[in-house]
Amino acid sequence: MEQELIAVEEKNNSRKSRMAAKEDRNSEKSQSIYDLPGVGAATAEKLMAVGYSDLMSIAVATPAEIIDATGMGDALAKKLIAVARSSLEMGFESGDDLLKRRDSVIKIKTASSALNQLLGGGFETGAITECFGEFGSGKTQIAHTLSVMSQNISEDAVAVYIDTENTFRPERINQFAKGAGLDPDKVLKNIQVARAYNSDHQMLLVEKIDDLIKKKGLNVKLVVVDSLTAHFRAEFIGRGTLADRQQKLNRHMHALLKLADTHNLCVYVTNQVMAKPDMFFGDPTQAIGGHIVAHASTYRIYLRKGKKGTRVAKLIDSPSMPEGEAGFYVDTDGIKDVE
Ligand code: GTP
Ligand code: MG
Repeated sequence: MEQELIAVEEKNNSRKSRMAAKEDRNSEKSQSIYDLPGVGAATAEKLMAVGYSDLMSIAVATPAEIIDATGMGDALAKKLIAVARSSLEMGFESGDDLLKRRDSVIKIKTASSALNQLLGGGFETGAITECFGEFGSGKTQIAHTLSVMSQNISEDAVAVYIDTENTFRPERINQFAKGAGLDPDKVLKNIQVARAYNSDHQMLLVEKIDDLIKKKGLNVKLVVVDSLTAHFRAEFIGRGTLADRQQKLNRHMHALLKLADTHNLCVYVTNQVMAKPDMFFGDPTQAIGGHIVAHASTYRIYLRKGKKGTRVAKLIDSPSMPEGEAGFYVDTDGIKDVE
């Protein structure tokens, strides 16, 4: 009898300790995907390969997406997401805190006051500005000028340039720097350029920006991705793969938005257009990347070639600025207003 009681008590105790352990696990916090429960090196690799490279991307994923990517069971996928969520501060912020944060927004000015005005003073930090338009419309030139002008923010401001089409030209930086009255050598030193060879590489480079900031202590104020969509477009061809492409692009945009938000830096991305064959009136082009890119971008500018070599920028989507247009032209030493 006594023996039995002891056995029952032991059973209870072990249940209690199991429950305590379970509770403990539920309040676990993780620093990176590598220390999520049940994630070994192989699973981490699988997650990374499809773009789940940080906790936020897992926190906002659905169990089905995680299962798809890793082949793990439903319960573990849910657990993973739960731990990722509890590890991140995904809470609310009061309106006045938000207003204070708006006060810290910096606007990077180009040498075209019309273009700056269109954006309410310049290209904003804490936001993604997307520029889409046909070849030669000036997307890359704006990327270069921003890389220079962002250095007006502070002595140590750094621009990160992710170049997917091999169109970054230090010579152009030189010319723009001189035009802005800045020291070209110093400006070039403060631009970190990386060639991205495919979409995975491109996404990985974005993850590395966190290291530049946290480990190397660089004061990154601008991140350029030129072009945002070219690799995605080339790698995912056909209807069947469109959903995969969009999912991946979504994670990429999210990572960029997070960078913009957490480090108060300006993200500038470029995007191509494609012909809309069923369009008879208006502009027969539309941006690549569809709703995913459109929704994640804070500001969207449509660039087109105007008369006499000018360029016309049209603000398509903005949280607080009216839609409008601005003319400018690309000069040797900067982006200028049309006289
Ligand atoms: P894609 O990347 O091909 O889609 O085009 P993009 O929109 O990036 O075009 P980009 O910014 O490269 O613009 C090219 C245009 O900028 C050229 O057609 C020129 O009009 C102008 N441009 C480029 N370099 C110079 C330069 O050194 N001096 C002057 N004056 N204009 C330049
Ligand atoms: Mg270009």
